Amino acid sequence: MTDKKFLVKCYSKIKNLIKFNEFLNDANESIDRHWETTYMFNKDILENKKCIDVGIWYGVCNAYALEKLNLQTTHGIDPNKDSLDICSKLLTDTKLYSTIDDVNETIDTDIIFMLGLIPFFGDKWKEHLNNIFQKINAKYLIMRHQTYTDPTAKFTNIDKKEYNILGLTDYSQTANVDDVVWFLQENQWRLIKTNKLNPNSNTDSGNVYTFEKYGQKTL
Ligand SMILES: C[S@@+](CC[C@H](N)C(=O)[O-])C[C@H]1O[C@@H](n2cnc3c(N)ncnc32)[C@H](O)[C@@H]1O
Repeated sequence: MTDKKFLVKCYSKIKNLIKFNEFLNDANESIDRHWETTYMFNKDILENKKCIDVGIWYGVCNAYALEKLNLQTTHGIDPNKDSLDICSKLLTDTKLYSTIDDVNETIDTDIIFMLGLIPFFGDKWKEHLNNIFQKINAKYLIMRHQTYTDPTAKFTNIDKKEYNILGLTDYSQTANVDDVVWFLQENQWRLIKTNKLNPNSNTDSGNVYTFEKYGQKTL
């Protein structure tokens, strides 16, 4: 169990929005999945910085990172209204948008997070990434992604973490990792770190990739 005291404090802000056990399980799973592998692995980059999270979900890890690393999530994007309602209570200073199309400003930041997001862009992933990069300037990009061994596997949590605006129900249109890494490197994002999460596996199951933008400065 991750920092239960922290999660109970979070719950006190959202108790009319979600049942306690449901929040505890979901939030715990998210912090377990991302804290060490993504945040602590990139601590040198994240401490005392600003970020935007595309696919922010409830923003639990972001709230934890604000406390532990003084990482401020100034902006978040997620099309799931229920998630954004919870997020808006946990991260009261974060500006939230439903989709990148709603972003009506140029956002200058230090880091862009995209954790488990690429499958929900389907085969339009290049267009979605280009839209994001047209509106957001950052020095680092942290992505969690994998090539799915069974692309016909259905999304299992479609009403929540696998919610998407394209009506996708499985991974059949999901870009493979090599194509995404290649595309990013062609667009001046240099891959600087990979956290291979399952070193015993021959697949790239759920790795974390950190990219740095050529010539870009932190804020
Ligand atoms: C696998 S979850 C991400 C996990 C989350 N960051 C965490 O802390 O555990 C993917 C998220 O992306 C969101 N999403 C789906 N399509 C999106 C889009 N076009 N733009 C932004 N977010 C999107 C989903 O609603 C979901 O909350």
